[in-house]
Amino acid sequence: MSESTIGIIMNGASGRMGYRQHLVRSILAIREQGGVELADGRRVHVRPLLVGRSEDKLAELAKRHDIPDYTTDLDGALADPTWQIYGDFLVTKARAAAIKKAIAAGKAIYTEKPTAENYDDALELARLASEAGVKNGVVHDKLYLPGLQKLKRLVDSGFFGQILSVRGEFGYWVFEGDWHPAQRPSWNYRAEDGGGITVDMFPHWSYVLENIFGRVESVYARAVTHIQARVDEEGRPYPATADDAAYAIFELEGGIVAQLNSSWAVRVNRDELVEFQVDGTHGSAVVGLFGCKIQPRNATPKPVWNPDLVDEIDYASTWLDVPTNEVFENGFKTQWEDFIRHVVDDAPHHYDFLAGARGMLLAEKGLESSRSGRRIDLPIISVSGARV
Ligand SMILES: NC(=O)c1ccc[n+]([C@@H]2O[C@H](COP(=O)([O-])OP(=O)(O)OC[C@H]3O[C@@H](n4cnc5c(N)ncnc54)[C@H](O)[C@@H]3O)[C@@H](O)[C@H]2O)c1
Repeated sequence: MSESTIGIIMNGASGRMGYRQHLVRSILAIREQGGVELADGRRVHVRPLLVGRSEDKLAELAKRHDIPDYTTDLDGALADPTWQIYGDFLVTKARAAAIKKAIAAGKAIYTEKPTAENYDDALELARLASEAGVKNGVVHDKLYLPGLQKLKRLVDSGFFGQILSVRGEFGYWVFEGDWHPAQRPSWNYRAEDGGGITVDMFPHWSYVLENIFGRVESVYARAVTHIQARVDEEGRPYPATADDAAYAIFELEGGIVAQLNSSWAVRVNRDELVEFQVDGTHGSAVVGLFGCKIQPRNATPKPVWNPDLVDEIDYASTWLDVPTNEVFENGFKTQWEDFIRHVVDDAPHHYDFLAGARGMLLAEKGLESSRSGRRIDLPIISVSGARV
């Protein structure tokens, strides 16, 4: 079988997501396993080029992981045909400008979300990429999680009957940074630096909801800044200008109501950092990152509301675990493999810049709803920019 190599620019490889998920857990893991297998059995090997602003950091990373190629010269990398894919893991506010250069250079592009700081820019990227005919993809990592894959399978198998509602809790306590260092970068808490939980999480909710349940037709949200002062990586206090919690109701096609709370100011009392409960006429499910438990209608207990008596039903024990029948790999890696097959072999990959723009639209409309106190309808969008 013939083998080939694809060169991948990894811009922002030293960042939290760029390093851990995209370099180490995805591209280096793919390198380690001998590349990506295509439909006809051929293999494509990966060759990363580390790109960033600090030569010292890149040199250290390159040495640590035995990577021959690194540079601080993005323009030079984009001009070099050795590198066919441009990967972007920069802070959100630096992304659109870099992606535009990659589109102009004719590279295939794979990026973190959100694709841009606002919807207009995100849609423009989708339009430019479409006009230039470059393949493009956006991280949809949550869809690849074992829990959500099991959920998708339940939906596809008809387990739920008619799906009525989805309730989701995402979040954990992010330390303020004073007596205990924060576990997320400080830009996340500054609106002027592209921060905020709505722009961070609604792009995820957009693709999760539309791919598992159906199109998001409207949003009502309340975004708030609970913790108003934080301390940054250098120990300097700063005002938190971005929202750190968003409480939202999304109406989906088919009449499904999804109610999702996202918060960096909540203490966890659930099995996982994200958990969704889906209720349908024939059954219900509770899923997390990994776990998935179900309760079919014919095994549903019959509680009776009586505040005078201690309830004898042990509700937790009335659910059935869905077994893990296969090995789930890291979702970032699996999506990278899908995207590489899309670039090399034209395999389908629907998680594109337009999906990224829908995610940003949902975030913007969520913030608009929060400001105005109104429910906002979401238009169907296309790359022409038209709102249908
Ligand atoms: N998919 C997910 O679950 C997920 C989770 C967290 C973050 N993210 C997204 O990943 C992206 C990176 O987040 P992170 O947490 O890794 O941040 P980070 O701050 O750890 O890393 C950001 C990277 O951008 C570089 N950078 C910063 N300012 C720059 C500038 N002006 N010009 C060029 N490069 C610059 C930094 O050097 C670093 O390499 C964000 O867009 C974020 O929304 C996605």
